[in-house]
Amino acid sequence: MGRVLGALGAVTVLLFGVGGSAGAEDGYRLWLRAEGGGADVTLPCDEPSETLTIARDELSAALPHGTVRFATSSCRGEGSPRLPRQRDVGEEGYRIAMDGEGYVITARSDVGALYGTYRLIRAVSTGEAMPEDGLTEQPAKRLRLLNHWDNLDRHVERGYSGESIWNWHLLPDYLDPRYTDYARANASIGINGVSLTNVNADATVLTPPFIEKVAALAGVFRPYGIKVYLTARFSAPIEIGGLETADPLDGEVAAWWKAKADEIYAAIPDFGGFLVKANSEGQPGPQDYGRTHADGANMLARAVEPHGGIVMWRAFVYSAEEPEDRVKQAYTEFVPLDGKFADNVLVQVKNGPLDFQPREPFSPLFGAMPKTPLLAELQITKEYLGFATHLSYLGPLWSEALTADTHARGKDSLVADRVDGLAGVANIGTDRNWSGSQFAQANWYAFGRLAWDPKAEPEAIARDWVRQTFTDDAEAVDRIVGMMMRSREAVVDYMTPLGLTHLMGTGHHYGPAPWVDDLGRADWTPYYYHRATKDAVGFDRTESGSDAVSQYHEPLASQWNEVETTPEELLLWFHRVPWDHEVKDGSTLWQSLVAHYDRGVAEVQAMRETWAGLEGKIDEDRYAQTADFLAIQEKEARWWRDASIAYWQSVNGLDLPEGARPPEHDLAWYKAQSFPYAPGN
Ligand code: GCU
Repeated sequence: MGRVLGALGAVTVLLFGVGGSAGAEDGYRLWLRAEGGGADVTLPCDEPSETLTIARDELSAALPHGTVRFATSSCRGEGSPRLPRQRDVGEEGYRIAMDGEGYVITARSDVGALYGTYRLIRAVSTGEAMPEDGLTEQPAKRLRLLNHWDNLDRHVERGYSGESIWNWHLLPDYLDPRYTDYARANASIGINGVSLTNVNADATVLTPPFIEKVAALAGVFRPYGIKVYLTARFSAPIEIGGLETADPLDGEVAAWWKAKADEIYAAIPDFGGFLVKANSEGQPGPQDYGRTHADGANMLARAVEPHGGIVMWRAFVYSAEEPEDRVKQAYTEFVPLDGKFADNVLVQVKNGPLDFQPREPFSPLFGAMPKTPLLAELQITKEYLGFATHLSYLGPLWSEALTADTHARGKDSLVADRVDGLAGVANIGTDRNWSGSQFAQANWYAFGRLAWDPKAEPEAIARDWVRQTFTDDAEAVDRIVGMMMRSREAVVDYMTPLGLTHLMGTGHHYGPAPWVDDLGRADWTPYYYHRATKDAVGFDRTESGSDAVSQYHEPLASQWNEVETTPEELLLWFHRVPWDHEVKDGSTLWQSLVAHYDRGVAEVQAMRETWAGLEGKIDEDRYAQTADFLAIQEKEARWWRDASIAYWQSVNGLDLPEGARPPEHDLAWYKAQSFPYAPGN
């Protein structure tokens, strides 16, 4: 049995309820909107750390009344409550309890107390019931990281929310207050590290003036428990070090990186380490010298190891020579290296084997590298799911991957069990609302919550977010959460249903272009992935095809090898199927495909109606922007449906199923559309 946390939940109804606040509601405040200012919050020590001071100020500002007391290893006084046990809260956890006087937050570390603070604010903001014996929590994963794909000129690769928030030109002398707000938002959802720069890296960030700039940012983030990481361009020893080679087995190269690491740590003692994209999509790497990924990663790992740093080495690699099915290549390259990486190397694996598509099976690497610490890489920015404009809540997509069973040996065989942390490609930019749209903020929020607890329910996370962000009105919350929970499947339906994948426009990835079949390399074209002919469609990845199925453990390998036992949502990912193949509901594949497109469009129409019904329950500005964006989404969902159907018909020559609406334009019209300035490219 729980009880509502004091009377505070009721007060928040007044604060967040119908009509919103009088000030401009532009989304800047994210989910941190509690306004109190009446609580009595005390710290039991004379010189509290900056972290504890923040915790105290946050609670004073957020709670309308009541008292809160703290105790941590660094700050306790006479009569302070006992600290929780290490095994219950670890280094970053906390305990929240209530006694006769009010709330008590205890933790071993100050950052644990800060996390406890944000947890209490969330509970109060959402009217959450608190267990009688308090709340004792700690993160399930030690690494909870954002990866910014931000260039030093402030362009954000795959960014749909303005420029990079890092103003390198004015750093280190000007510290935009936004850096603090950013750190605060991250800490409130448990994020404890940020990689500042694009994985397509620029060595300039490793030069002395930039190290000074990075150190300034690290100084802002530190009290919030956030470490900085940088992307390391593998050829940096040549580009900024004056060496002739970047061969990882060359003594001078190793010495250069060691000296570089020492220099960085002298400026930033708690620097987290390096994130590396090597020998992928034209990036330099150890293979340029005939060395392996392990050779490269271990050399860098040795440079940061004396300082406690780590190297995150990305497994997003596919060969320039296209030797085999692209989705198999990361496995082929990395599995033989299992056990060969240094202890402070983590291999960072995208959730699926291809590239952040609306739906993919989980990457088989999660079940195949038992001796190597892994990170799951998720994409918060929606490169392939409608940019910032489409409302698509990614909690269900990520949860589907994280709770997938790899069937690897041992009891903890879910993807979530196999990783030491999560890295999310950020969707943050200079837009006033941070993420390009109000609902895109939910994905930042959900990422943090899932990094803390990868097995958390996406629906519960959405509910918390809506209550913290928009309203406490129970009916409105239900309606908004309902549309969020269906929104990802809607995108799958109108873009790439039934296991289709990678059908978007070239380069910018905006809109449909399934007809493209003539790029520099075959595995960049949509045609490579769908292979549609007059008779059939789909990629044969069975034993008699590319045999990607055999990269999965049994029973998956056998199940996915057969059309009958492959889940319909992955059908065309694993199989090449005739257009007249009968699917589970008795219709043909072609009829089913069209039905999925229609369902996707209908779902967006339903979202628009739901949202229209919330007018007056959401503050005007955020209501209006979302309504406009949903109209764009409907237009673009129709575009995806119509262009795809027009193309498939041009290949299969089939009539539309009875009653289906013909595409608005002919195929030539869709092919003629061009978007030279689509963002994020
Ligand atoms: C995708 C994306 C690129 C990015 C790459 C990566 O292919 O389109 O912009 O650089 O992933 O993850 O490295």
